[in-house]
Amino acid sequence: MLVFSVESSCDETSICLMEDKNIKYHKIFSQEIHKKHGGVVPELASRSHLKVLQRLTIEAFQQKNFDPNQIDIFAATCGPGLIGSLLVGSTFAKSLSLGFNKPFVPINHLEGHVLSTSYNNDIKYPHLVLLLTGGHTQVYLMKNDKEIQLLGASVDDSIGEVFDKTARLMELSYPGGPEIEENAKKGDEDFFDLPKPLINEKNFNFSFSGIKTHINLLIKKNEIDDKFKSNLCASFQKNISDILITKINNGLKNLNINIKSISVVGGVANNNYIRKKLENFASNRYINIYYPLKEMMSDNAAMIAWACLKNYNKNKIDLHFKPKPRMDINNFL
Ligand code: KG4
Ligand code: ZN
Repeated sequence: MLVFSVESSCDETSICLMEDKNIKYHKIFSQEIHKKHGGVVPELASRSHLKVLQRLTIEAFQQKNFDPNQIDIFAATCGPGLIGSLLVGSTFAKSLSLGFNKPFVPINHLEGHVLSTSYNNDIKYPHLVLLLTGGHTQVYLMKNDKEIQLLGASVDDSIGEVFDKTARLMELSYPGGPEIEENAKKGDEDFFDLPKPLINEKNFNFSFSGIKTHINLLIKKNEIDDKFKSNLCASFQKNISDILITKINNGLKNLNINIKSISVVGGVANNNYIRKKLENFASNRYINIYYPLKEMMSDNAAMIAWACLKNYNKNKIDLHFKPKPRMDINNFL
């Protein structure tokens, strides 16, 4: 089965050709245009997808000397995400499916992230998934490879968003996650004592927006030099990772299920400091930790092709499916 997939839910334009489990072609174009605005501008993102998608696709077919008639399924992210961006990518894939007279399969972006670790790992169940992206912070329980149950989520900003907004307050560039990780290397992680909202609640819900407000006040009160920035980045990163570990620990105690493995997926899973802390936590409890392949960590079309192949029988083939900016993982079609 050969899938052509498109991902365009935010500011990455990506296409993939996946044949069974073999990635034949995968390209991710990260839109640089948002850097000067300190965050994603939806209108610019849609226009950039429109400009880039056709070129990427023609390049893919030419480089592979590839006949698109061989494609069995066209798939695209249909939500959640920025509606203009979703419309561009899904309409592009739908048009190809019409043109080549092959089925179109709509894919849920969250499911793409959640299933991404099953591409390169043999998942042991019961399994916990930490979805840490710019749009979401969610914890899922998978008792088997079919059921995905939401256990908790952020009640306000997502984890990636708080990295991006904190970086912006310090006048670091976008996306903020990698900038904060880099600056934190030179800083004292115990320098600032930052708030840990919802830390005593024994569930998997998070709240991050108060941390950003606290940091805003610190920035207003202090002189901002490199030392201040690196101490704040280090303290912020430690604070976020302490929150994750404490909440997972308490949540697991309350859940009372013997979790065998944890997947860490989404852009924030790139953070090596957070990874190390999660790995220490897991190894002390004989829990395996899985990550996606590097190319399937941040937004990408390979995870969309993989979700399509894994769920081909489950997802409805529907050319008329309308993209939606908000969408739950189990309430898709
Ligand atoms: O999964 P993703 O590419 O897109 C969404 O689905 O949102 O995640 C993007 C987020 C951004 O907020 C970015 O700052 C964050 O992932 N990120 C990181 C790192 N690399 C990317 N956050 C912390 N540390 C990193 N090294
Ligand atoms: Zn994503």
